[in-house]
Amino acid sequence: MTDTGAKFNFLKILKFILSSFFITVLLLFTIASIRTLSLDVNVGLQIAHWEKQNISFVVDHHQRKELLDNFKEAIRIPTVSVSPTQFNTTALLEFERLLRKAFPTIFSSSLIQHELVANYSHLFWVQGSQPDLLPYLLLAHTDVVPASESDGWDAPPFSAKEIDGFIYGRGTIDDKSSVMGILQALEYLLLKGYAPRRGFYISLGHDEEVMGYMGAVNIASVLKQRGVQLLFVLDEGFAVFDGLISGLEGPAALIGTSEKGFATVKLSVSMIPGHSSMPPSETSIGILAAAVKRLEDNPMPRLFGYGPERGTFEHLAHKFSVPVRFIMSNLWLFSPLIGWVLERKPDTNAFVRTTTAVTMFNAGVKENVIASLAEAYVNLRIHPAQSLQEVMDLIQSTVGDQRVKIELIDGSDPLPVSSADEKSFGFQIIKKTVLEIFSTVTVAPGICVGNTDSRHYKDLTSDIYRFIPIWFKPGDTQRFHGINERISIKNYEEIVAFYFSLIQNCDIQKLPEPHSSVHEL
Ligand SMILES: *[C@@H]1O[C@H](CO)[C@@H](O)[C@H](O)[C@H]1NC(C)=O
Ligand SMILES: *[C@@H]1O[C@H](CO)[C@@H](O)[C@H](O)[C@H]1NC(C)=O
Ligand SMILES: *[C@@H]1O[C@H](CO)[C@@H](O)[C@H](O)[C@H]1NC(C)=O
Ligand SMILES: [Zn+2]
Repeated sequence: MTDTGAKFNFLKILKFILSSFFITVLLLFTIASIRTLSLDVNVGLQIAHWEKQNISFVVDHHQRKELLDNFKEAIRIPTVSVSPTQFNTTALLEFERLLRKAFPTIFSSSLIQHELVANYSHLFWVQGSQPDLLPYLLLAHTDVVPASESDGWDAPPFSAKEIDGFIYGRGTIDDKSSVMGILQALEYLLLKGYAPRRGFYISLGHDEEVMGYMGAVNIASVLKQRGVQLLFVLDEGFAVFDGLISGLEGPAALIGTSEKGFATVKLSVSMIPGHSSMPPSETSIGILAAAVKRLEDNPMPRLFGYGPERGTFEHLAHKFSVPVRFIMSNLWLFSPLIGWVLERKPDTNAFVRTTTAVTMFNAGVKENVIASLAEAYVNLRIHPAQSLQEVMDLIQSTVGDQRVKIELIDGSDPLPVSSADEKSFGFQIIKKTVLEIFSTVTVAPGICVGNTDSRHYKDLTSDIYRFIPIWFKPGDTQRFHGINERISIKNYEEIVAFYFSLIQNCDIQKLPEPHSSVHEL
């Protein structure tokens, strides 16, 4: 992932709701309860209705060591991306050699075609026995962000050192656990004689951390030229959050169904330079500062309830204790209230609206000269219920000053929202697989705040999901792109097991009939 993920603090929200709104809530309780009793919460499909997969994931002692050794070797190769033109090509070539050595069955199978794209990215096609079934794509990336031991790591970042059951190293979370997990699962499936019904692609980009303009962009265009349509794409993004959502009973697997968009906007004011002894009543700096202040004072509209965050609340509601559950199950009534509470904190505000951050402000050359030019940069992250154009229009009207020039430097719309209902094949297959491996987890859709390579595939599919079953416990979110990135050995095995099962579950021909569960309170 190119950016930091999500954090929630529902406990504070809960306290806030309870203290400030207890009376209001009580008043509305009666109306709400009528609604809750008949609410179809879409808690899920019963496992019993599913077609059975036939190879179970059993690894012996030897394989357990082998899969861990392969993973450690992957971590030791410093496939660092520094900028879109600066990555370690020696390491990327070494990584290719590792893949060929670690997964000989994949590279020799007659079912599989492997090709290099843009010299360092990998595209695998695994042929299915039923060509009429639409293929899917598993996506991951081989590059990592830089890491330096001197930042305070407990183990060197490219050592893959084992400490207390954890493997330490850059890439253990982002994203070599997924690269190696997918290929290891496929290797073991092939060894057990598996041949898929539904064909699928595995795409491994080599420059995701620096935008993916070489790897993902070229792979997507290769597929497009071949006329490929994908049932769904599964990429990194969200994970299993355990103890991070206060008030939630048990862990939650959030599956990213959209990504916020972004915009980098430059504001500038030009004036004729002059001497500071005879200043005009307004300077370029003053005009620009006032414009920036208006943007900060007038945040973008609160949109809670209009994007995928609504589904997050609806799916998780039944795992909260009663007062919160009531509120969360009745978003038709409480959306404005929840939105109002969430916007109090920067980390939850990010889910409620398009955020506005003034990140640079430059003006002036000398202390006694009126600045001829003042410039500011504003970085916005666009909520899925808004478009880039709408955001630009709002900036224009909020600034409301012709002297301030507004330029869009870079930007993109939020990603379309992928389906997450009972008929959504990708979402339901991912959900079923998560529940097979982790029976106590609640699965819910969510919005990713950061961007990944998957956005480059948006013309090939309408359903992109962002999830790896990595466990994030309190304190773990800082490890992501930070120091002491690590994964437990047990969790890495779970990741292999997840893909092992997911690939087989994708052979299911038809989802079970939706059963409408009336969710009792
Ligand atoms: C690039 O990777 C190779 C190993 O493949 C390593 O020896 C070398 O130090 C790396 N270069 C940089 C600048 O990190
Ligand atoms: C791939 O490598 C060849 C030969 O080294 C080079 O000419 C070409 O520009 C490279 N392509 C990309 C996309 O990096
Ligand atoms: C899985 O089951 C199908 C039919 O139920 C069978 O044709 C196939 O051979 C089985 N695969 C393996 C590897 O056992
Ligand atoms: Zn990543």
